[in-house]
Amino acid sequence: MSSQVFHTTVTKPKASAKDGKGIFMTVEKDGKVYTNVIDAITGAAVGSLGWGDTDIQEAMAEAAKHHTYSFPGCIVSTAAEELSKFYIDQCPKGAFKSALWTCSGSESNENALKIVRQYQLERGRPEKLKIISREASYHGFTLGAMSIGGGPRGVPFEDIMIDQKNVCLKMPMFYPYRRMKDGETLEQYAQRLLDSLEQLIIENDPNTVSMVIVESMSGSSIGTPVPPKNYLKGIRDICNKYDLIFMVDEVMCGTGRINDGKLCCWENFLAPEDAPDIQSVGKTLGSGYVTIAGVLVGPKIYNAFAEGSGVIVGAQTYHSHDFNCRVALAVQQKVLKQNLTANVFKMGNLMGDKLQKALVDSKIVGDVRGLGGFWTLELVKDKSTKEIFQPSLKIGSRFANAALEHKVNLMGLTGGNTTGETWDIAVLGPSFIITEKDVELLCERIVETVKDFTKALETEGIV
Ligand SMILES: Cc1ncc(COP(=O)(O)O)c(C=O)c1O
Repeated sequence: MSSQVFHTTVTKPKASAKDGKGIFMTVEKDGKVYTNVIDAITGAAVGSLGWGDTDIQEAMAEAAKHHTYSFPGCIVSTAAEELSKFYIDQCPKGAFKSALWTCSGSESNENALKIVRQYQLERGRPEKLKIISREASYHGFTLGAMSIGGGPRGVPFEDIMIDQKNVCLKMPMFYPYRRMKDGETLEQYAQRLLDSLEQLIIENDPNTVSMVIVESMSGSSIGTPVPPKNYLKGIRDICNKYDLIFMVDEVMCGTGRINDGKLCCWENFLAPEDAPDIQSVGKTLGSGYVTIAGVLVGPKIYNAFAEGSGVIVGAQTYHSHDFNCRVALAVQQKVLKQNLTANVFKMGNLMGDKLQKALVDSKIVGDVRGLGGFWTLELVKDKSTKEIFQPSLKIGSRFANAALEHKVNLMGLTGGNTTGETWDIAVLGPSFIITEKDVELLCERIVETVKDFTKALETEGIV
């Protein structure tokens, strides 16, 4: 049947989600219905709660009863206030002072870029313009967010992005599996990257550099490499040294996905006093029940506004939307009450550990990496040389198709940078309610997928 939805595969209908309960979902693809599929990625690592959560259904009904829309430029929502307090209270004390709620991670990053720009203007530093982000990074699909991204998805749009030569600068990605040198420790590799960041700042006149933005842990772009403690701390210190804003994008890795009981991913790597100055969040915040994301603003930036013009010129129609904020608050209250971030941290690490052990002899799984509720298998043609598959083979998405045959929904993709390097990854980010029994079943199904997929590639003469 033809589709009237403008899909990513425009002329070819995609698989569709039919139903879901807990961590399981029903998917229809090419006329075939797959039941009891373990949702091991919850869309794009969106799920904190499982599907069909009756508490959230009730909270949504309640929210609908009380919801009164108002334009946030004129009249604000009290639910937005409550959600801000709830979130900020769960971050390290003093890290953030204020929050803005948007409808997507891309929008959050767009808004954050503008907030940082205005921060520099408020303090009389208009020459501080340049934004440093990472090679191969992903920060969203709107033009501003893509401008600071560093993957192949942005390449066709470069001519209409924020100036890619003079404003958006790129530092090397953090990708130990491919970029660490023989004999180098993880810390030495991180230090090498920090040195190159500092060099980039010096070469580009530190007085004209405004900010550095990184994901605390990369998600769909590189696939969950875990940085050593000196990496984010080193970026924080460099930002302090050159008077730059340090921003983390925690749209995918944050809001409980990777933290043993709390919300921010960076707490795994940074002390509270090294908190980022601004942070974007999304996905698990609303758990896919509502389209909500946000920007958390630290005291340094907040104070520049408060002591400066005190005004943000402009707001979006659905900023800090009342219904979204009410439902996200209910989601987060349940996550906190049931200590679900600690659960997914433990269960995710168990899943990673099991997969590392079970796939150690696999011919095509070169690396299993991750932390807490966010893990990745990297697929390679030759494990000893880490040789990649030809990108035209689309091994990542083929692997996702193979996983669906084994009743697992995961994100399989071919990642890359803008210079033509590619890699194939399969990303796992289950909802926070996953149990030990679920992990057991999920790992069995993934191991079976790897076996069958390897056989298919052998039959085709690819490996
Ligand atoms: C790190 C990161 N930032 C931003 C975004 C964009 O979020 P959204 O798709 O909600 O616009 C994503 C989406 O995957 C992401 O992974």
